[in-house]
Amino acid sequence: MNSPFSISAFSDSKNRLYLYRIFIGLSLICFTYFIGSALIAEDYKEKISKWPMEMMGTEHSPKSNFCRNQCRPPGSESLPEGIIVRTSNFELRPLWDSSLAKEKLKPSLNLLAIAVGVKQKEIVNKTVEKFLSNDFVIMLFHYDGIVDEWSDLRWNNRVIHVSAKNQTKWWFAKRFLHPDIVAEYDYIFLWDEDLDVENFNPQRYINIIRSEGLEISQPALDPVKSVVHHPITARRKNEILHRRFYKSKGSGLCDENSTTPPCTGWVEMMAPAFSKAAWQCVWYMIQNDLIHAWGLDRQMGYCAQGDRVKNVGVVNSEYIVHLGLPTLGVLDKNKESSEQLRVDNRPAVRRQSFIEMQKFSQRWSDAVNNSKCWIDMYKQTDQHRN
Ligand SMILES: *[C@@H]1O[C@H](CO)[C@@H](O)[C@H](O)[C@H]1NC(C)=O
Ligand SMILES: *[C@@H]1O[C@H](CO)[C@@H](O)[C@H](O)[C@H]1NC(C)=O
Ligand SMILES: *[C@@H]1O[C@H](CO)[C@@H](O)[C@H](O)[C@H]1NC(C)=O
Ligand SMILES: *[C@@H]1O[C@H](CO)[C@@H](O)[C@H](O)[C@H]1NC(C)=O
Repeated sequence: MNSPFSISAFSDSKNRLYLYRIFIGLSLICFTYFIGSALIAEDYKEKISKWPMEMMGTEHSPKSNFCRNQCRPPGSESLPEGIIVRTSNFELRPLWDSSLAKEKLKPSLNLLAIAVGVKQKEIVNKTVEKFLSNDFVIMLFHYDGIVDEWSDLRWNNRVIHVSAKNQTKWWFAKRFLHPDIVAEYDYIFLWDEDLDVENFNPQRYINIIRSEGLEISQPALDPVKSVVHHPITARRKNEILHRRFYKSKGSGLCDENSTTPPCTGWVEMMAPAFSKAAWQCVWYMIQNDLIHAWGLDRQMGYCAQGDRVKNVGVVNSEYIVHLGLPTLGVLDKNKESSEQLRVDNRPAVRRQSFIEMQKFSQRWSDAVNNSKCWIDMYKQTDQHRN
């Protein structure tokens, strides 16, 4: 692969620097730094105490009072304010001749991140082509570690590649989509790879969710061609979008008065689109060690920037097909394929996902119990319905 911008740093196939090596390197650096800083800490304290106090902004003068009221990112206090850059983005920059950069006049406003394996190359190609032509920044998370085999696609050098073996999209998202890094994007799509986008137009979709105020959303699934796990995700042909579904028989009834997931205020985590504000909240909820993220979906409504019944929804007029192909961490009992028989650690992944769901749910109740200042905006409705 030729892209000089690739985070995975695949300069050629013989010289692969995998991400985890970078992590090991970083850990070593951090460790060295830790030891080093312990040794020089005393020395540093001494030096600091000799610095003029006004420089540190701690002297009691009118100027320092004014200065102390400024809100500075932690760690940046010793820098002049104008040099501080709080956020970043994924725009690729030319190494020289910045007139080349003018080719692309408007910066991308939205981001699509997909966890991919090379087996799904054909379908991912279609998705990426479509989103690129709608001015998205694209990030591919390679969970199979294979990056070189994408190099024949014409967009290969325009997207960001991140490679780490056997990691889920939530693992990647937690590590590479920090809200400060993606702060310039209005909407963040965090998608699985096995989605057919033939009937999906990204720009029209964004126009709809923007005008309807959907902070967390997903395109509906074509119910005929898709593997549908949750009835709320099924497409309704005569509505542009819907925010609830109805169930009048069996357990878990849903009617027009329901206020809790999965009747309303809920989307599946297969093809979510988050507003910037919602993502800023969701990122905090992702646990570093619970990489399958099961159970997260139920609490996502807390990030809906208001009432989840209004701000979470499924768009019918732009819809996708969930192909239900075997992908990392996604299990489809409905689809028997020879592929699936070969990958025999899927039951283990499923078990792990359930364990994680229980852990997450326990952490949530502990956190609720221990948060003295937190007010549960959905408490009333939850108790009423459950
Ligand atoms: C990728 O998609 C584009 C547009 O749909 C198509 O022209 C191209 O042939 C595809 N490439 C491969 C390798 O499938
Ligand atoms: C990743 O998973 C595959 C099977 O799904 C396994 O064979 C391989 O050893 C795993 N690799 C790593 C680095 O864990
Ligand atoms: C929903 O609530 C309204 C007002 O309380 C009530 O009249 C109606 O019967 C309820 N609908 C159902 C299906 O329970
Ligand atoms: C919440 O905390 C109290 C005491 O602090 C404890 O008695 C109770 O069992 C806890 N509840 C849960 C659900 O953890």
